Formats: sequence, C-alpha cells, structure tokens
Amino acid sequence: MKILVIGSGGREHAICWKLKQSKLVDTIYCAPGNAGIEQVAECIPIIPGSSEYIQRLIYFVKNNKIDLTVVGSESPLADGIVDYFQEADLKIFGPSKDAAILEASKVFAKRFMSRNSIPTAKFQVFKDAQGAVEYVRNTHMPVVIKADGLAAGKGVIICSCVEEAVAAINKIMVEHSFGEAGAQIIIEECLIGEEVSVLAFTDGERAVQMVSAQDHKRVFDHDIGPNTGGMGAYAPYPRWTPQLYDLIQKDILEPTLRGLQEEGRKYIGVMYLGLMLTPGGIKVLEYNIRFGDPECQVILPLLDTDLVDIMLACIEHRLHEITIKWKQASSLCVVMTSDGYPASYKKNLQITGLDEAESIKSVIIFHAGTDMKDGQIVTSGGRVINVVACGEDLLKAKNLAYKAVNLIHFEDAHVRKDIGDRAIRNSED
Ligand code: AMP
Ligand code: GLY
Repeated sequence: MKILVIGSGGREHAICWKLKQSKLVDTIYCAPGNAGIEQVAECIPIIPGSSEYIQRLIYFVKNNKIDLTVVGSESPLADGIVDYFQEADLKIFGPSKDAAILEASKVFAKRFMSRNSIPTAKFQVFKDAQGAVEYVRNTHMPVVIKADGLAAGKGVIICSCVEEAVAAINKIMVEHSFGEAGAQIIIEECLIGEEVSVLAFTDGERAVQMVSAQDHKRVFDHDIGPNTGGMGAYAPYPRWTPQLYDLIQKDILEPTLRGLQEEGRKYIGVMYLGLMLTPGGIKVLEYNIRFGDPECQVILPLLDTDLVDIMLACIEHRLHEITIKWKQASSLCVVMTSDGYPASYKKNLQITGLDEAESIKSVIIFHAGTDMKDGQIVTSGGRVINVVACGEDLLKAKNLAYKAVNLIHFEDAHVRKDIGDRAIRNSED
C-alpha cells in the first residue's frame, strides 16, 4: 500500500514511524513533513494555508495512486477534508466535518454533552462581553474562560479572581486576540483533579480505548507559566484500572457515539477525550478529533498491533474483528523547545547530537519543528524535538529519555525537567 500522512509535527513523525512497521505498507509520503520524517517517508511540499490546499492533496493522491490518507491535525478535519476525499472516492482516516465540530466549536461540544448526559463542568455561553462581565462579577471564582473556536491550545484561560476573568473576556471578545474563534465564549466551573488523556479508535459504532496518557501543558516545571501545545507526556497513567476503562466506555464513549449517530455525524478515526478525574467523578474537559501531540508519541511506541490494520478496520466498520494489543511497558516523552516558546523564538539554530541520542537502546527521536539547511538539521518551530524512551516502568523510561535529552544541543534549548515526576511519586505511595 501507499500511504499519505498529512502534517509536520512530532505526532506525524510518530504516525509515519509506526506505519513504516506495517507489513501492508510499501511507501509512505508525508505532506509537508519535516527533517526527521524525511528519514522514514517521502516529504511532499504541499503546505497548509492556501485555498487550494485540500484540492492539491486530492490531486497528489489521485496522481500517485495513494491507497490511504491519514490526517494528523485538526485544521484540515475541521475544514472538511474527509468529506472532500470521500466525494472523490478516496480512502481517508478521520471524522467528517459534521463530526469534527466536536473540537472545532467548544460551544457545540458543551451543548452536545448536555443533551447526551455526558459529564462535564457546568457552563454558560456568552455572545457579548458585557453579559459575560456581569456574570463573572456575580459568580464564584475561580472560573475557566474558553474561546469557542480553534486557538492552538491557547484559547483557554483559568481565572482565579474577577479582575483576571474580566481581562480574559476583554482579551477574547474586545481585543479579538483569537479572531473569529472568540466570537462566543464559555465560562465554566473550574474543576480540580488529575488530568488524563484517553484516546480511542472508533469506526463510528464502537470505540476501543488506547493506553491512557498524561500531557504536561504548562511551559515550566511544576506546572508554572503559560499553556503550550504540550511539553511532554507519558503512558500509561499509573493509577489506571479496568473499572476506569469501563466507566469511560459506558458514561462517555458510548453516549458520544450514540449522540453522533443520532445527529447523522460520521465519525471514523481517533477520538481524544481530555478528562479530569475529580472527587465528584470523571468529567470531560474537551474532545479532540485526532491523536494528541505529544500523547501520540508515547502511545504508538506501546502499540503491538499493525496500525494500518486498525485504521482499515475503522474505515470498513469492522473494529470488532481485531484485537488491539499493547506492550506491558511505560513510555515517556520530553519535548525540547526553542527558548521563548509558546511566544516568539529564534529559528534556524543548528541541532547536534541527534544520532548519539538515538543510538541509546529504547530511545526514539521524533522531530517537530526541524528543517534541513545545507546538509544540517536546524530548528524551524517552537517545539523542536521529542525525545521518547520506553522502559519496564516509568522511572526507567524517564531516566533513559533525559539521558538522551542531555546529548542533544541547540542554542537556548528549553526542556521541562519534571516530566512524569508526579506519576512516579504517586506510584511509589
Ligand atoms: P481544553 O482545551 O478545553 O482542554 O483546555 C485546556 C486546558 O485547560 C486543559 O487541559 C485543562 O488543563 C484546563 N482546563 C480546561 N477546562 C477546565 C476546567 N473546567 N477546570 C479546570 N481546568 C480546565
Ligand atoms: N496534547 C494536547 C493536544 O494534542 O491537543
């Protein structure tokens, strides 16, 4: 088979790496890819942003007789890439535009959860700043304020006092910092608990959960500083139990699929649940309609089943026919970023030590913002390199990952030093 992966981050590198192991795959293409993906796939310079983007991908897929396309990130899915491909009779792994709205509109997702009795934080929706300000002046703090639309993980602001809440409302609705994404906002109760990412494969009727994972969203150690796309992750969550699996199936995944079906929204692909384990039970913080980044980088190295088999079973509505197996091990990912991320940062900095790091057994390097310039690998984004290690437990995985991180250098590289620490402490209790 020939497969096209769409995207250019660490998640897409991990997807290409896993697909490469499939007995069904001959050639992998990636559009546009990065300097690391180039080592496992043929990179195609079709860059997102233009109005012809999806049409150019379709043209490439037809011309090159690609058998399957896999979409990494949310934007093309929210733009309806799956519908366009299906109209052109091309095989693609991902949800339709009508289903992708679960991530593309947080207001839609909250109302969908309400009408399907899916547990989530209590919320109110506002279309004007004045009404929102009046509401926060008369409500208990803290609150969480969210822009409705896609904002690359930056549209959620946790406010501990009225002044912060008013500033957040102004930022989103008066200064329009997130553009159209902030035309509506959600103000919701702030939940306290452990956050876990649970991803599932789905064929629209059934959902099979992957190993659980935990992201580290804040830029600095001990969860300080602004939210980022993710500074590191590990899998599985150490306090995972079969009871939690069953509860998530019954209370969240099954009613979600039922609700989508009833509304005629076709969902094939990966369903990502951002969950908060609160003293009052499990609550859904958000849906994502694709693999998480960096969760994907820790989940796929633990997958023992052929990923193409799983994807085809989803597309052909026969997920029940396959058994998905996981390694009994732990994995941990440290994201190396450019100083300044998630705000502004330098680019084109030379990266050294990648080969030495990857020569450590059980270490895998997934590239994110990297490029090849004059035969050298250089930085081209905020999140630059994902260093992943597998081990028989989380502590071993962590030690290996940081050993590899210490071998990789670029100017002012930043890493969190505490990825997995809380989980390791908790599992020692
Ligand atoms: P979201 O994009 O909705 O998942 O929000 C991004 C991050 O904000 C989440 O991963 C949480 O860390 C935090 N968050 C979102 N909603 C809440 C909430 N209701 N209570 C506490 N934290 C939240
Ligand atoms: N790691 C969170 C996300 O992919 O949205």
